[in-house]
Amino acid sequence: MDPFTPVPADRFTFGLWTVGNVGRDPFGEPVRAALAPTYIVQKLAECGAWGVNLHDDDLVPYGSSAAKRDALVADFKAALEDHGLVVPMATTNLFTHPVFKDGAFTSNDPRVRGFALQKTMNAIDLGVELGASTYVFWGGREGAEAEACRDPRDAVKRMRAAIDFLAAYVQDQGYDLRFALEAKPNEPRGDNYFPTTGHMLHFISTLEHEAMVGVNPEVAHENMAGLSFVHGVAQAMEAGKLFHIDLNAQKIGRYDQDLRFGSEDVKQAFFLVRLLEGTAGGPRYEGPRHFDAHAYRTEDEDGVWEFARGCMRTYKLLAARARAFDADPDVRALLAGVADDDLEHRIAHYSKDNATALRERDFAPDTLARRGLGYERLDQLALEYLLGARGA
Ligand code: GCO
Ligand code: MN
Ligand code: MN
Repeated sequence: MDPFTPVPADRFTFGLWTVGNVGRDPFGEPVRAALAPTYIVQKLAECGAWGVNLHDDDLVPYGSSAAKRDALVADFKAALEDHGLVVPMATTNLFTHPVFKDGAFTSNDPRVRGFALQKTMNAIDLGVELGASTYVFWGGREGAEAEACRDPRDAVKRMRAAIDFLAAYVQDQGYDLRFALEAKPNEPRGDNYFPTTGHMLHFISTLEHEAMVGVNPEVAHENMAGLSFVHGVAQAMEAGKLFHIDLNAQKIGRYDQDLRFGSEDVKQAFFLVRLLEGTAGGPRYEGPRHFDAHAYRTEDEDGVWEFARGCMRTYKLLAARARAFDADPDVRALLAGVADDDLEHRIAHYSKDNATALRERDFAPDTLARRGLGYERLDQLALEYLLGARGA
């Protein structure tokens, strides 16, 4: 088998809403027919995916009766069983219903906030019933256009109250479930609260059940903010908070494009996969590799599965390139640091002795400054691997 063909062991997942996207946009009607969730399960399994994720409404249309819900869930479970797919993550749709037009958890109206909690508790129950171990929170409507509508500090307080409430609910139910918070700078609101992964990481440190809450960074969203996605993800990993990840592609400064993974900014995608796979050292990210993206609006259903295979295949191609790059002796030589164990020890923490030793040492900064670091060569080597000139 082609080594880049996806297999379940790769832990690739898609949302029902991703491959199921019908191609509606603010200017145009759907271009593809809706696909049944059970059919999506079958097709994702054929493509080599490991799992499928969902919003409550993706599987159980809003307003379904209890009997209808149970029938849909039973059919879906049977399809998962038949095709060997798992549901690692679930989430709530807190953005489509008009009641959420001015936010869900951050709404000024306590009835809207109460309804958002009710909807989320039901959706958590559904996710857990399907086997999910991660629960994503993306606050699509948590934001503002008319800035005077609320004190943004109240938005933060209300979001904290909601996440604390739901974390306590999960614990009270005895569920084995962790939360992953997803940031986005804008869209659909003019300005969303918690615009970046960095904002989320700090917010998490203020929560009552901090240990069960991490982040779900998305490539497109950090790019929209003009930030390095790789650095945001790395900081989350270092904090032990990368609980989930939304992979896609995005041109900088645009609307949220949710393009096929790796289809834009291949270099950043390369360094992202290198980080997640741990080929340069450091722990590997072991969670699902989730694609939160959708096919171009130009595509028919065949194009959708081409898109899905492309996301996974590109990830594996980049992982192979990253492994080869990090094993290259030229790369290793360029990355070999300056070894000075005594100094490392002294600068690692403060003591009177260490401070004195640092004061007394002549670091010869002018000499140090003259040393070239070889990063032109290092970066060119990365490109040589990416372009197939080395290690093919
Ligand atoms: C977006 C978001 C969404 C969320 C999804 C899960 O594209 O704006 O990323 O796709 O990830 O709704 O909550
Ligand atoms: Mn997302
Ligand atoms: Mn997105």
